[in-house]
This record gives sequence, C-alpha cells and structure tokens, in this order.
Amino acid sequence: MQTKLTELLKIKHPIIQAPMFLVSNVAMVKEAMEGGIAGCIPALNYRTLEELRTAIKELKANRVEGGAFGFNLIVNKSNVKYKGQLEVLCKEGCDFIITSLGSPEETIKQAHKVGIKVFCDVVDLKFAKKVEELGADAIIAVNNKAGGHRGDKSPENLIKELSTNCSIPIISAGGVGIKADIDNMLSYGAAGVSVGSPFIASIEASVTDEYKQACVDYGANDIVMTERISGTPCTVINTPYVKKIGTKQTWLESVLNKNKKLKKWVKMIRFSIGMNATKNAATKATYKTVWVAGPSIEYTKEILPTKEIINRLVN
Ligand SMILES: Cc1cc2nc3c(=O)[nH]c(=O)nc-3n(C[C@H](O)[C@H](O)[C@H](O)COP(=O)(O)O)c2cc1C
Repeated sequence: MQTKLTELLKIKHPIIQAPMFLVSNVAMVKEAMEGGIAGCIPALNYRTLEELRTAIKELKANRVEGGAFGFNLIVNKSNVKYKGQLEVLCKEGCDFIITSLGSPEETIKQAHKVGIKVFCDVVDLKFAKKVEELGADAIIAVNNKAGGHRGDKSPENLIKELSTNCSIPIISAGGVGIKADIDNMLSYGAAGVSVGSPFIASIEASVTDEYKQACVDYGANDIVMTERISGTPCTVINTPYVKKIGTKQTWLESVLNKNKKLKKWVKMIRFSIGMNATKNAATKATYKTVWVAGPSIEYTKEILPTKEIINRLVN
C-alpha cells in the first residue's frame, strides 16, 4: 500500500512501531524492518551516548529494504542528554527522528543538514501549525486512544482537523490494534499510523513476562489515566494496586503544585520519580508495579513474535 508515509520512509506498509520507553529495543526494530515497517526507539533507553551509538551501528548493519529505523528524542529541558543524543544521531545517521515534549526547532535544523527526516508529536492544531512552520516532515497526531501521555481528541476529529489545515503528512498515534483500525485512520486522511501498546506483548520487548501477560489478560476497558506516575496524566492498566492507590494526585502534591515557587521543583522531582517507576515496571514484577499501556491492547491475546503482530496489523 502506497501512502505519503511509505514514500517518505521507503517502507512497505504505512506503519511505525512507536517508541516506548524501556520497551522498544534493537531486536524489535530489526523485526519491524524485516516486516516492512519502520521501528523507533527512545534515545533515552540508552544510559550512555556510547550505547546509543552501538545501537545505531547494529541497526545500520541490519538495514532491510522496505524497512526503516529511527529514534525518539525528548526535546525539552527534562532531558539533560538531549544535545549529545542529537549529535550522535546526526553523526551516525538514521532514517527519522520523532520529537516529543518541546520545541523541535534545533532537531529539525541539525537533522535536515544530514538528510534525516523529523516527525513531531502533537496533540492539537496550534502545535501542528508551529512544527509545520519549523519544517517538520510529518506530524504524529497523538489522540485520546493512545498509550502513555495521550491527547484529548478522538482519532477521527484530530486527523480530520490536522489534515484539512496542514499540508505535511499526518501519522495517527493511538488506538490501532488490527488492520481495520489502520483502514479507518487512512480513511480519515492519515498517511500512516504509529503503533505502540500492541508491541509490549512481543517476544522481543525488553520488559518482564508479567507486564507482557498483563497486556494479554487485560483489555481496553481496564485502561485508566493516572497522575500518580509522573504528575502528567498517563494511561496504565487498572490492576488491584492501581485501584488501591487511586489515580489522582495526593493532597500534598496538589498543594505543592499550586505553589508558584515550588511548582517547578515538584514537577522535576515527579518526573524523576516517574522515570524510576517506569523502569521498575519494565524490569521488576511486584504487587506494586504499575504498567503503562493503552486501550489498543484489546486485541492482544498472546505473547507473540513482533513479526506476527505486524502480520495481524497488515492482513
Ligand atoms: C509503554 C509506553 C511507553 C511509551 N514511551 C514513549 C516515549 O518514550 N516517547 C514517546 O514519544 N512516546 C512514548 N509512548 C507513546 C508511543 O510512542 C505512541 O504514541 C503510543 O503508544 C500510541 O498509542 P498506542 O499505544 O495505542 O499504539 C509510549 C507508549 C507506551 C504504551
């Protein structure tokens, strides 16, 4: 199937395996490329720039025609490694970068010098227009069905609004579990989709079997939004532990958040607690583990190789 996304990345199917913190890895992206789609890894999955460089080299060595690989950069101040990561990506090379949480201006400037495409996460038209003006190659439209930090518009409304008002391709992120979902997103005007949660329960994902099994056992109705991980609302599986601790900020957190002087510090501390909680969720399984996933786990019925999950999406 040919779309503007397949043309941009020279891939067989209009699908990006979405970047997922501590879930995506080189093994998944290699499979994605072999399956004729693009794969993306958060640069923050690597503790050091050297590890990031090694991952890029391995992907370059395993490049497959009809596939593509990229990295996700958090481009706001919370990512202290941002400049170094951008430099490594531009020096070593990759097919595309997905930016999130901040202005993509510097990334677009540097990446375009070396021929890397830049796609930007957006949740509304205002930011979409801004990234288009800055020269983004495509928009990742994060809707209210997405896993992680979701947007607040339905896939249909968001795609239609962005595709009518922007001239660069729209890639829809959120709520895609089977081929019919992709057909719907394309019919609303998207040039492709970015799919995350369905790949958590893949053999290759770097998370515990308990996390993968939770994606099999729970479904769309078990996903809730919580403010308890990083302060910013995030979708998680509503396990007995999540039910017990609740999904709203504690009384103390909301008081501190309202204090102008302390707000910034509370935010930074919450972000760091959130990163640790996500790390624990990926690597340990205890009663207190909180698993991030979106409603698109609905069609996840068993833990499968990445390739078979791609087959479910394209057939
Ligand atoms: C476990 C998990 C981790 C995620 N980590 C990131 C991340 O590090 N950076 C990012 O830009 N998006 C992240 N996302 C969002 C995905 O890239 C993508 O937008 C989302 O998964 C699409 O919705 P879906 O889960 O319904 O496919 C994450 C999503 C999940 C489920």
